[in-house]
Amino acid sequence: MRSDPIQQIMDDRAQARRLGDTGADICFLALADQAGHASARTLVLRDIKDNRFLLFVNRSSPKWQALESGASWELLLWYHSMQRQYRIGGSTQECDTQFVRDSWQRRPRGSKYLDILYESTQSQSSTIESRSALIDRIQQIREQENIDEMEAPSKVTGIELVADRIEVLDLNHQDRIHDRQRFTLQGSDWIAEFLVP
Ligand SMILES: Cc1cc2nc3c(=O)[nH]c(=O)nc-3n(C[C@H](O)[C@H](O)[C@H](O)COP(=O)(O)O)c2cc1C
Repeated sequence: MRSDPIQQIMDDRAQARRLGDTGADICFLALADQAGHASARTLVLRDIKDNRFLLFVNRSSPKWQALESGASWELLLWYHSMQRQYRIGGSTQECDTQFVRDSWQRRPRGSKYLDILYESTQSQSSTIESRSALIDRIQQIREQENIDEMEAPSKVTGIELVADRIEVLDLNHQDRIHDRQRFTLQGSDWIAEFLVP
């Protein structure tokens, strides 16, 4: 195991992509809100910069509201092709909104229509009468908006999960005695401890 878990993640992610691992570009975000309600969801992991993990989210979503109100979180990465799991903890910060807004221009059209829907009438994860009601609303947006000329809606944003704790579970041992290490950021150094797997 390397002494820098971020570099290890970036190397595993790059290799997982080369191997066609469907987990290479996603992550799993678990949250516990202040009422103790737990939730988890799959998200695209947009980027890793230094110790910051970038996710794109909509401000109307329950996950944004939970994060904004100080929910506890953990991010999980699993690279099947590399047989390594990473559990990441730390703090959060909103990312550079201009970057998210520029990136929005390259989003698929369907995703853009949903962002417009979240902005106007239906927040993400709210209930709707039926799938056909959803398709009708999207059709109305298609007719009303010139999506190629639009700026990103204001609720489109991103969040950076700033890691200060990373736990690595490495299954690449024939004897099945896995290697499990917890790295804690102290200043600019990651301090490693071994954990019982
Ligand atoms: C492969 C995959 C990638 C996803 N990527 C995102 C994403 O980048 N952003 C997002 O808001 N939801 C994404 N979702 C949907 C979320 O898992 C979730 O259903 C949605 O964000 C609503 O979650 P919430 O109610 O906890 O806010 C993705 C789902 C899958 C299966």
